[in-house]
Amino acid sequence: MAKPGGARREAPGSEPRRVFMIASEAAPFAKTGGLADVLGGLPPALARLGWEVTVALPRYRGVAAGALVDHFPVEVGGYTREVGFFDAPLADGAHALLVDCPELYDRETFYGVADTGYPDNPRRFAMLVRAALEFLARSGAGSSLVHAHDWQAGLAPVYLKTLYATHPVIGGAPTVFTIHNLAYQGVFEPAWLPRLDLPWDLFTIDGLEYWGRISFLKAGIDANLITTVSPKYAEEIQTPEFGCGFEGILRRRAGDLVGILNGIDTTQWDPAHDRFLPEPYDADDLSGKVAAKKAVLAAYDLPADDQTMARPLVAMISRMIDQKGFDLLASIAYELPRVEATLVVLGTGDARYQDLWKRLAALYPSRIGARIGFNEALAHLIEAGADIFLMPSRFEPCGLNQMYSLRYGAVPVVRGVGGLNDTVRDYVPGDPKSTGFVFHEYSGDALLGALQRALALYGEPLPWRALQAAGMRQDNSWDRSAREYVKIYERAIKSRGAVG
Ligand code: ADP
Ligand code: GLC
Repeated sequence: MAKPGGARREAPGSEPRRVFMIASEAAPFAKTGGLADVLGGLPPALARLGWEVTVALPRYRGVAAGALVDHFPVEVGGYTREVGFFDAPLADGAHALLVDCPELYDRETFYGVADTGYPDNPRRFAMLVRAALEFLARSGAGSSLVHAHDWQAGLAPVYLKTLYATHPVIGGAPTVFTIHNLAYQGVFEPAWLPRLDLPWDLFTIDGLEYWGRISFLKAGIDANLITTVSPKYAEEIQTPEFGCGFEGILRRRAGDLVGILNGIDTTQWDPAHDRFLPEPYDADDLSGKVAAKKAVLAAYDLPADDQTMARPLVAMISRMIDQKGFDLLASIAYELPRVEATLVVLGTGDARYQDLWKRLAALYPSRIGARIGFNEALAHLIEAGADIFLMPSRFEPCGLNQMYSLRYGAVPVVRGVGGLNDTVRDYVPGDPKSTGFVFHEYSGDALLGALQRALALYGEPLPWRALQAAGMRQDNSWDRSAREYVKIYERAIKSRGAVG
């Protein structure tokens, strides 16, 4: 490979294995949510298992990292631009490949303005995939497995089957597609097909057609194997309630669909070594949480008197959208200030929810704090300072914040869906495996009920402490998940008979 991939690290006794990922975000270069955390954490974990890993993503505005390793013109449906490729090392020998095409990626935001995607998003993400595959094809890296993430990279399997079907380097490359969130489907007008170099005969029910339009997500589902980010979500998306219209297609591919729980980056999220915390702490000694709680209260201009310090601090860090249960919270907005707790929220999202939280904070300045914005440092501090973390999601493919909360001793109160179901175990007195509080019905009352159960136990220091410690000791590291991905890669390679 021209550069990314670096020194080859071979797994003992086997051929070198290469995976070339394509995604629209990867930490630390570009992040709006959990997708970026996954693309920042999984590649190094795979590299530690002996895989050569490259992650291609757009070089958005403000990304200065990386060294130019190649540039050449790339064409998508008659639109040709000179594209630059910047290699930036990730941990443990993995690499990021930043795809530079300023006209498409040097914009104020990644995807669009307010709730409206940029009108040329089909071209922007088709270009990402084409440029990445062209780079791979030119690198002469021999066969790599291509692992595409979410709709933005969904065209990869289809381009490999059509434009590159007979390519000497990447023709027949095995493909894996990961669904991080089925609700985002990349649906566009069919008139885009020729502008994406795709033939009209793909405009069928077995192709990209989706209710009279085309879906990039559906293109991705055409991969050899499909994964999603928790075992429970893998089941849920085959039902009408969670399938967003894709349940039939996914049921047909049930044998090729596997749920692999995300991990968390335990170097970035470790209360014993977190540069954003005033004091380190761990499961044996949680005293450092007190300083963090004071700092959070100060950051929100909330009182930090003895009474407030004694009261549990309940937190949320989230995109403020219906998926995350903000409509549920809105339905009990005026009951929340009456619970025996202080509440802090950090997030951005729908204007109506941002306004509601700003209003609540103004009305209850000693009980509720709201911060609208994206703030990595504050997110870490909140996880450390919080006693309880709320995730009342309508659906949650995996969710990372509940895992950060477990590790930081902020007891999660969650709805039992998707990855929340798979990572948080409801409190049963005396059960040492309990880690949090789980409710099921999507209602304000059910949420309040779970929160009240948590607040009641907070008043009993011994079982509370045991609950915190059980969560802090849970292993949610990437190493475990990466081994599951390796199994999938090996299966995909075997099914295509393409070995490195
Ligand atoms: P999703 O990807 O659906 O938003 P996840 O729980 O998988 O949900 O991941 C969200 C990630 O984004 C976490 O790392 C979380 O800390 C981070 N995050 C979300 N909102 C903010 C914010 N306002 N400020 C800082 N980090 C945030
Ligand atoms: C999506 C999902 C979230 C998941 C993340 C990373 O954003 O909403 O649940 O954790 O992807 O896979």
